[in-house]
Amino acid sequence: MADLIEVRNLNKSFGTVKAVDDLSFSVAAGEVYGLLGPNGAGKTTTLRILATLLKADSGSATIAGHDIARDAEAVRATIGVVNGGMGLYDRLTGREILHYFGRLYGMSHEAIERRIAELDDLLSLGDTLTRRASGFSTGMTQKIVISRAVLHDPPVIFFDEATSGLDVVARRAVIDFVREYPSADRAVVYSTHVMSEVEELCDRAAIIYRGRKVAEDSVAALVAQGEGRGLEEAFFRLVGRSEMQHGGVPA
Ligand SMILES: Nc1ncnc2c1ncn2[C@@H]1O[C@H](COP(=O)(O)OP(=O)(O)OP(=O)(O)O)[C@@H](O)[C@H]1O
Ligand SMILES: [Mg+2]
Repeated sequence: MADLIEVRNLNKSFGTVKAVDDLSFSVAAGEVYGLLGPNGAGKTTTLRILATLLKADSGSATIAGHDIARDAEAVRATIGVVNGGMGLYDRLTGREILHYFGRLYGMSHEAIERRIAELDDLLSLGDTLTRRASGFSTGMTQKIVISRAVLHDPPVIFFDEATSGLDVVARRAVIDFVREYPSADRAVVYSTHVMSEVEELCDRAAIIYRGRKVAEDSVAALVAQGEGRGLEEAFFRLVGRSEMQHGGVPA
């Protein structure tokens, strides 16, 4: 099966900061693919480029065969984006917000209601459907943000630090949702600095550091590099090795 996401030699600088440095990776249908890296590694910049919100300096990428530079509109119809800091329309209820976005996606009233019922089952939307967003807790906001992102059942979703600020119950709902999402024609890219989430969720992952991919493998193989001390140990070893190869100071 062809890869759902193909990223080739992506580069992006902000002034003198190289945020994304010759980054390439592919994600197949059925996978949860992790982007694991510390603050400032370039994860959000990469996802913003793939979501067509930001232009790369060079390199290319396709999502379900659509080129991010040439077919931006098709790419946007193919993806859903969830991040930790998205705002909602305060005066609307969760249901009204989902109807608003459903109409933007070209969905009928009935299709939106059917999808809301499915998402209610998956994410326990409960009160969020009838209360105004101005009174939402972080967890309630995130449930509606996720529902909004996947309302049109996109083949690809990007999660960027999607569990930050959530309590254990809300976090569990998000993790379970992400784990269940991939199928024969769907995949997830999950960006985080939380090692345990990658271990728990991802099939494969790339370790990103200073915009570069310093390692990529199945999560089991990455963990094995920690020689019994887990992904965190593997992370420090792999980043340290990459820094030495690039002449920097070992992390
Ligand atoms: N709009 C911008 N203007 C200037 N510099 C930026 C901008 N966006 C990102 N950067 C810089 O690019 C680098 C990568 O940032 P990015 O937000 O992609 O990292 P990240 O991996 O998502 O980090 P975090 O875990 O903190 O979210 C950082 O050095 C950041 O300061
Ligand atoms: Mg980020």
